[in-house]
Amino acid sequence: MTRFALASLVVLVACGDPDDFDASERLPGGDTTLRLLVSRSQAFTFPASNLSSERREAFFTGNAFFNQAWVAAPASTTARDGLGPTFVAPACSTCHFRDGRGAAAEPGEPMVDVLLRLSVPGTDPVTGEPLPEPVYGGQLQPFAIDGVPGEGRPTVEWTEVPGTYGDGSGYSLRRPTYVIDELAHGPMAADVRISPRVAPHMIGLGLLEAIPAEWLEARADPDDLDGDGIRGVVQRVWDPLTESLMIGRFGWKAEQPTVLHQTAGAFNGDLGITSSLFPGEHCGPTQTECRDAPNGGEPEIDDELLDKVAFYARTLAPPARPNGDDPDILEGRGLFRDFGCTDCHVAEHVTGALEGFPELEGQRIWPYTDLLLHDLGPELGDDRPVQSASGNHWRTPPLWGLGFVPSVNGHDDLLHDGRARGFAEAILWHGGEAEPSREAFRNASAEDRALVITFLESL
Ligand code: HEC
Ligand code: HEC
Repeated sequence: MTRFALASLVVLVACGDPDDFDASERLPGGDTTLRLLVSRSQAFTFPASNLSSERREAFFTGNAFFNQAWVAAPASTTARDGLGPTFVAPACSTCHFRDGRGAAAEPGEPMVDVLLRLSVPGTDPVTGEPLPEPVYGGQLQPFAIDGVPGEGRPTVEWTEVPGTYGDGSGYSLRRPTYVIDELAHGPMAADVRISPRVAPHMIGLGLLEAIPAEWLEARADPDDLDGDGIRGVVQRVWDPLTESLMIGRFGWKAEQPTVLHQTAGAFNGDLGITSSLFPGEHCGPTQTECRDAPNGGEPEIDDELLDKVAFYARTLAPPARPNGDDPDILEGRGLFRDFGCTDCHVAEHVTGALEGFPELEGQRIWPYTDLLLHDLGPELGDDRPVQSASGNHWRTPPLWGLGFVPSVNGHDDLLHDGRARGFAEAILWHGGEAEPSREAFRNASAEDRALVITFLESL
């Protein structure tokens, strides 16, 4: 290409060529997309548009069990008993409020939407999973039913870290430090590793499950053979059903292979509800009150109900982007690509088959993720490796719907622990493989940075 042609191409891309916009970008979830949005605050709560009315029944049953609080056993509502003995929250919706995003906690305040994963160095020889903290297990359970102590009281402190944009203007990022007081069973292991996780929003998850595994395998480049600095690692996690490794897709480190696993894992780890998939209560060996507490049946949630909650979680619709081709949004979209953001936040996919979900198959979707693990540098790292993920690895999160979070949840906290206050801070925390991308953003003009954010807000 001649120098002239190259220069005009660059100008064209930076201006966001409207011809380059595909009408399907207005419907990020393909035929599942929620087309008519009555209220921005309800943007994440609707079923896939192409679900038949019979199929909507399963959705609404799942919805009820997602939103209602579970209670301690024994109780008159046997379908919803078995909470705890120890737990992080009584309902899925406590953390995923309106199917949305959790917030980071204020200093010294109780942490409501953020959970702390715990482990000690080493891995299980069979499953490859990190070893749980010997007394407190794999996750801190701050709350408990009557007569059983909660495990401890976690809080966060924030330290402001100043930085400067390329144009000389300043910004400040906040770095968290976690403190766990009132430990009920004595001190934790000296080498305990703590990984904070904020609840992500819940849209389009079945579509992400339907992205073909072959696409992920083909996209991964763990040894950077193409030399572009972007690696991408497929997460492989233990599946208790088949007792083998499966590709991980869900959670901040892609620790669960399917929405069903993630749902059963959340019932067990967050609510203390046992299922056929995860049958054990998590009472440490010395937690006698916890071990002696009554349960709500074995298991506490049956497979049929578990399937309905997973059905619900799989079929929440991504909202439409009717204004996706506004000039400013297109310009921001061009910059998003020029800055290399799409190397990981891959815009477009075509879904394959997901058993039992014909509505999700063959959809052209725009989630902005590759579902792969990337090293984002030590600043974001949690020093807690999980299966194929190092301490610095995180799964590229989908960006669709993030512009609605302030309306749905009343905050704009982003990243795995909610440390970023808005899009700019989220980008400025990117390091490791994403450092060139972050630097392109940091060194861009204030106008161009604002355009990228306008684009992100439109997703
Ligand atoms: C204590 C807060 C909390 C509660 C309660 C909770 N979740 Fe979550 N949820 C999270 C966090 C944190 C993650 C990310 C987990 C990770 O990184 O491993 C998550 C992730 C998920 C995901 C995967 C989303 C994605 O984008 O990968 C699904 C699905 C999910 N939760 C469903 C549920 C269901 C169903 C329930 C109720 C049974 C529930 N959650 C209860 C905090 C919570
Ligand atoms: C090397 C891969 C990679 C590149 C390049 C990259 N990102 Fe990310 N991005 C990630 C990962 C991984 C995370 C999750 C990090 C975390 O939570 O700690 C993330 C998180 C985000 C988030 C927060 C999402 C959420 O759900 O909280 C936003 C917004 C974002 N990226 C935007 C961008 C933009 C804009 C660019 C380009 C300037 C970019 N990213 C470049 C991998 C990448």
